[in-house]
Amino acid sequence: MPSYETHEYDVVVVGAGGAGLRAAIEASARGARTALICKSLLGKAHTVMAEGGIAAALANVDTRDQWQVHFRDTIKGGKFLNQWRMAQLHAQEAAERVLELEQWGAVFDRTKDGRILQRNFGGHTYPRLAHVGDRTGLEMIRTLQDRGVHQGIDVHMECTIRRILKDGDRVGGCFGYHRETGRFVVFRAKAVVLATGGIGRCWAISSNSWEYTGDGHAMALWAGAELIDMEFVQFHPTGMVWPLSVQGTLITEGVRGEGGVLVNREGRRFMFERIPELYRGEFAETEEEATRWVQAVIAGRRPDARRPPELLTRDVVARAIRREVREGRGSPHGGVLLDIASRRTPEEIKRKLPSMYQQFKELADVDITREPMEVGPTCHYMMGGVRVDPDTQESTVRGLFAAGEVAGGLHGANRLGGNSLSDLLVFGRRAGQFAAESAQRNASVAQVDPDQIDQVVRESLAPFERTDGENPYALHEELRSTMHNLVGIVRTEEELHAALGKLQQFRQRSARIKVGGNIQYNPGWHLALDLKNMLDVSEAVTRAALQRKESRGAHTRDDFADSDARWAKLNLIVRQGTDGIEVSPRPLPEMPPELKKLLEEGEHG
Ligand code: FUM
Repeated sequence: MPSYETHEYDVVVVGAGGAGLRAAIEASARGARTALICKSLLGKAHTVMAEGGIAAALANVDTRDQWQVHFRDTIKGGKFLNQWRMAQLHAQEAAERVLELEQWGAVFDRTKDGRILQRNFGGHTYPRLAHVGDRTGLEMIRTLQDRGVHQGIDVHMECTIRRILKDGDRVGGCFGYHRETGRFVVFRAKAVVLATGGIGRCWAISSNSWEYTGDGHAMALWAGAELIDMEFVQFHPTGMVWPLSVQGTLITEGVRGEGGVLVNREGRRFMFERIPELYRGEFAETEEEATRWVQAVIAGRRPDARRPPELLTRDVVARAIRREVREGRGSPHGGVLLDIASRRTPEEIKRKLPSMYQQFKELADVDITREPMEVGPTCHYMMGGVRVDPDTQESTVRGLFAAGEVAGGLHGANRLGGNSLSDLLVFGRRAGQFAAESAQRNASVAQVDPDQIDQVVRESLAPFERTDGENPYALHEELRSTMHNLVGIVRTEEELHAALGKLQQFRQRSARIKVGGNIQYNPGWHLALDLKNMLDVSEAVTRAALQRKESRGAHTRDDFADSDARWAKLNLIVRQGTDGIEVSPRPLPEMPPELKKLLEEGEHG
């Protein structure tokens, strides 16, 4: 058995995006010996892909904004499936976290009188997104990183964690390997915070980079934790469609927030067509409700109607783009056109959207101050994740916490743009706090049975022992196109069954993967190991999507096109059973009357 190095901490945070950094800062500030583990280099995280802003009811641009409206928007955007307590804490604490970030050195864009500037985004009633041009996530990571490295957190870079280790029924640490040397490493810890982000690499077209292979989702499942809302995968409406080498790269919603409009090849702003039908997706469940809603808009009773239809929620816009393309009104390379050039001066575009300007100039030879961009949906975000206690972020396994994209519950069936950055700060901080407290309650160092380690070592090295077998890259490509074609924006029972059949075959083939070379920097081996996570997570999504026989938010079924009241109050829970992945419904916790009242006020307001 190869040797491994061992480290000992109170709290280990796996993942160094916004949630991981914020959790590590908090745990360390509370006296916990804290390690932060990044799969990649510190600072390289999907957080930077939340470009357009961070949602918080600061009320700097519209004084009517308040946490109650943010709460209402989040629940409506999530089609009422959100865990109400998470949505409440998020809306109440987001503004404080943004101001804290500012105190720590984040340089936000400013209003004329010097306050943090906020812009419009889909599904938010008022301009709510505090931003730094179109580089908000980047500024957030920079600020948190500065704060973190000065606080004595140990950072382990280019280290992939493969397994949560248990000490009886609680967490005892985690096991992984250094990507460069291949050397195995054990982190013994009293508490582990998962902050590993999403699962976008399971789909062919994605804004996610190579790290996002569902590691935390899968490890939590294997450790006995529950996952929630796995059927809800967000396709951001605007990814690059051309050139193919950069297909899926994000184009911030900030372009539409700054006035950009979507047009089809005939030059029509198609989002204005079938308005009641689109609003039915966002605000109403039945045609009757949608008609009432439109009447309220016309009568001026809905402030959110001041948003152009391009800023309906992402699920609605992504489906509308898909329809244009399918019905033959798409752009030359199979998207639609996003035009900011005719709405803003070149100076404004370069000032407000500098990264978008540069991205298109460098990657597509398109000058967005003069020409439209070609855009299409890209897999961007996972609403589903580890089921956690809303206040503490602890999973159903003692000592195992989760925050950010890997945790489920806040966003329900669909996340509003900008709510991810505030999620990372609010719940990253909470996870760090409660992980530190949990570690303090456990005076003794965790004991880990060496058999657990031997088993994962053996499993990890198996691909080297085969003389002949499957290529991990080929298998990954097949997995990605299967998920894209059969478990995409719109799904059917037949497609989902076909996907499960394919996943079953992939699983058998993955047991025969062979990699050459040795454990020193060997990307083929890394991918072979990541495939285990991706297969389990893809199956969890597919099984949950099959069970939810209705359309709601980001989950659209062609064969069950409407939302169904019977599903309105049920979350789907995923567990690792003895015979594989199991999915079962669970009623949503009852919302307290005062919060229900807030939602009703919104209906008539
Ligand atoms: O479009 C964007 O800037 C992405 C933001 C988000 O996902 O929150």
